[in-house]
Amino acid sequence: MIQTTKTLDWDKYLKTAAQVVSEGIVMLKNEHQALPLKPHEEIALFGRIQFHYYKSGTGSGGMVNVSKVTNIVDGLQESGIKLNQELLDVYHKWDNENPFDLGDGWGKEPWSQKEMPLEDSLAARAAKRCQTAIAVIGRTAGEEQDNSLTEGSFLLSSDEKQMLTTIRRHFSKMIVLLNVGNIIDMNELLEIAPDAILYVWQGGMTGGTGTADVLTGKISPCGKLTDTIAKHVEDYPSAPYFGDPVRNFYSEDIYVGYRYFETFAPDKVLYPFGFGLSYTTFQIKTNDIMELSDKWDFIITVTNTGSCSGKEVVQIYCEAPQGKLGKPVRVLCGYEKTNTLSPGESQTVTISVSKTQTASYDDSGISGHAHCFILEEGDYHFYVGTDVRHAVKTYTCTQNGTLVISSHQQALAPVEAFERIKPVLSTDGYEPQMEPVPLSEVDETKRRLENLPKEIPFTGDRGIRLCDVRKGTHTMEEFIAQMTDYDLACVIRGEGMNSPRVTAGTASAFGGVSQELEALGVPCGCCDDGPSGMRLDCGTKAFSLPNGTMMACTFNRTLLTELFALTGLEMIANKVDCLLGPGMNIHRHPLNGRNFEYFSEDPYLTGTIASAQLHGLHQSGVTGTIKHFCGNNQETNRHDTNGVISERALREIYLKGFEIAVKEGHADSVMTTYGPINGVWTAGSFDLTTQILRNDWGFTGFTMTDWWANINRRGQAVDKSDFAAMAIAQNDVYMVCAIGAENDDNILASLENGTLQRSELQRNAANICRFLMNTQAMARLEGTETKIDIINRPADESDVDESSVKFYELDGNLTINLEDICTDKGTNHSFGLDIKTMGKYRMTLTASSTQSEVAQIPVTLFSLGTAYGTFTWNGTNGLPVSFETDIPLFSKYTNLRLFFAQGGLKMHSITFELISTEL
Ligand code: BGC
Repeated sequence: MIQTTKTLDWDKYLKTAAQVVSEGIVMLKNEHQALPLKPHEEIALFGRIQFHYYKSGTGSGGMVNVSKVTNIVDGLQESGIKLNQELLDVYHKWDNENPFDLGDGWGKEPWSQKEMPLEDSLAARAAKRCQTAIAVIGRTAGEEQDNSLTEGSFLLSSDEKQMLTTIRRHFSKMIVLLNVGNIIDMNELLEIAPDAILYVWQGGMTGGTGTADVLTGKISPCGKLTDTIAKHVEDYPSAPYFGDPVRNFYSEDIYVGYRYFETFAPDKVLYPFGFGLSYTTFQIKTNDIMELSDKWDFIITVTNTGSCSGKEVVQIYCEAPQGKLGKPVRVLCGYEKTNTLSPGESQTVTISVSKTQTASYDDSGISGHAHCFILEEGDYHFYVGTDVRHAVKTYTCTQNGTLVISSHQQALAPVEAFERIKPVLSTDGYEPQMEPVPLSEVDETKRRLENLPKEIPFTGDRGIRLCDVRKGTHTMEEFIAQMTDYDLACVIRGEGMNSPRVTAGTASAFGGVSQELEALGVPCGCCDDGPSGMRLDCGTKAFSLPNGTMMACTFNRTLLTELFALTGLEMIANKVDCLLGPGMNIHRHPLNGRNFEYFSEDPYLTGTIASAQLHGLHQSGVTGTIKHFCGNNQETNRHDTNGVISERALREIYLKGFEIAVKEGHADSVMTTYGPINGVWTAGSFDLTTQILRNDWGFTGFTMTDWWANINRRGQAVDKSDFAAMAIAQNDVYMVCAIGAENDDNILASLENGTLQRSELQRNAANICRFLMNTQAMARLEGTETKIDIINRPADESDVDESSVKFYELDGNLTINLEDICTDKGTNHSFGLDIKTMGKYRMTLTASSTQSEVAQIPVTLFSLGTAYGTFTWNGTNGLPVSFETDIPLFSKYTNLRLFFAQGGLKMHSITFELISTEL
């Protein structure tokens, strides 16, 4: 038995994450030397978000329980900055009187908070002591709800505007920090004219530290925009379609973000893709370019020409000839970040640009090479610089004749007619002209039959266990041959959320979800959210990472690999095998609610950043799940709205990042989306999860649906129990069933009536087992798992010990006595429900207090990690007082948690009463 021990140094984890924050911050403006802050000046800090730093967005991409979030106040004070005390006191008082609103349940959190109306006299007094003011504006966003073009979402609220204009009137230097997940409107802000504006994004639990390091000049800003900031939301080419609850035409086609703006509308850009200021300046010099058969190598020297240390990101863009297909005038095809360069110091970097990255997909056959990635003949111009707009033409290379990079079969193409844009040259540059989109000519039934795997004859149990396949003493075929139809039906059922088979509070168990599968030696793998750290719904604390956009803005792959190697160790310590991230959908429109989890409007950047994260996880012996495959570009009606997208846009934009993550990042786990693409829900899309993912890209891992996803067949209505459609598509695991060993789906019936082949299930079972065989879950079964020694992690009394979480059966009515629980300030009480009858329940929470009548003692109830209400008791003279709320309980195993923000309460009981079985 070989067991290794690895060390996770929490201190190093914090420092690496803070470095990511510092490197991900994008400084858009810095006039009158507003930044960096001077060492001994007193700073006037405004905005309630100074205390409530948004560490991430909401939903599965943000629900990490943390011991401490370093907010902006902490960050600045810890780095020695003196803050104006009167302001701090006033904000504290107001914040206590106007508690932070957690909202009311999943997808119903407010995307911003009420801001304190700023009194002119207060600002005036602060301005007497301080020259410089910093204002913090905060936004969150997340699942089930997009951002909107309203105040407090994409736009500033009136209180925020009032605060900012008051500050502007009084201070000679004004800095605005945008603690947001996603870009917001810049017009009003630019009118107020702060001296400095920084997107500080949502930096996880060390956000304040990383931000302070930039503000104080310890680290020079070096983050770059991963999206174009246009003047108006309506300027984004997807604007007419985004948010459609029924059908979303992708008429802008491949012209997403800067591909659109640089080609058709350069004047509509406020800040170009790739842009970000520094405290220093750099000179970029291309020394040499070497053309090889499959790539170009650019040898570039970067010199720090300014007066302080810093890093720079060199970016290379390609302008391919318009040819017959039409092309954007710029496509990012390579980038590299330098090390920290001292003033005068130079570094030479070699950036390889693969020819694949400059290729276009012909989805119509107009080039004579239908369904191929090609380089059309003509001149390829390369631009080198530090953002898309200012990159300068450095090299031109001529392609004689068409070069075919790869040939494919048509897949996932639209079935309904629509038009897309294509550039035509006019006197003032390119104009968009509409052309019809090629439609699908694929016979999907035939394609499935042509791909049918060979059935492995059933042998019954021959005593072969999965570990024998791993050892190489038996083949996977021999192992799978032993599985009964029932085993095959169970192995494709993920179980959750909160399955007692795996770590408490996680999203799913998969693999060995029945006694019989366990007997065959199939381990239960544990999947857990998400892209910004582990979500442990029973309240266990974990490390919260910066959000996806911020990580991508670093343009620093090495740093992200280092960070995710640490996350990998933390996962092993928590027996989590498969992180449900990175999220890598394309920022098609700035109002998408989940943009914060995702990286960029550009697929190359997206794919390479995801690969860097995966490399880190893989180094530590765990993995990530790339999601949501593909086209999850809005939250409004995300379960049903149909993305109508050309095959070219899919292959070049919406699939491209995933392709890179599979080929370069060696992704071995993929999650499909909730919604349909071109009429078929991705949970059951053969073209997506077999033809493209496996046949074209050579993926050998396993795939899963999103949680409780819809499934359909072409032309048919949604039927969530049609697991056969999913299995046929080679989407391997349905996430999630309440109980894996007994589920009401159509697998066995479909085998019986011949609409599903045993061989298809065997193929899927092999995918799952091949994956599991090499996980820590397998090692745990064999007692060879890696042990993690966590050092330098501060003790946290309020952390929940997941092994102590007690489960209660709930079948209509239940009262749990809470008389003995600890209710000290900052503690959590966690328990689980094993729900026999799912539905909407009335929850009654009863407590008493002997504190004063005006005491405020808030208790927040979390269900599956989401707040379902904060109930505030006053003193009750010791008599029991109850609060009620209705709460949906639809997941068989549900973790509930009570969080006590103040002490002084005696809990009595919590009661559940079924009010409706309709959810
Ligand atoms: C999200 C996924 C997530 C899953 C499990 C879904 O709501 O879309 O991204 O991984 O829940 O929590």
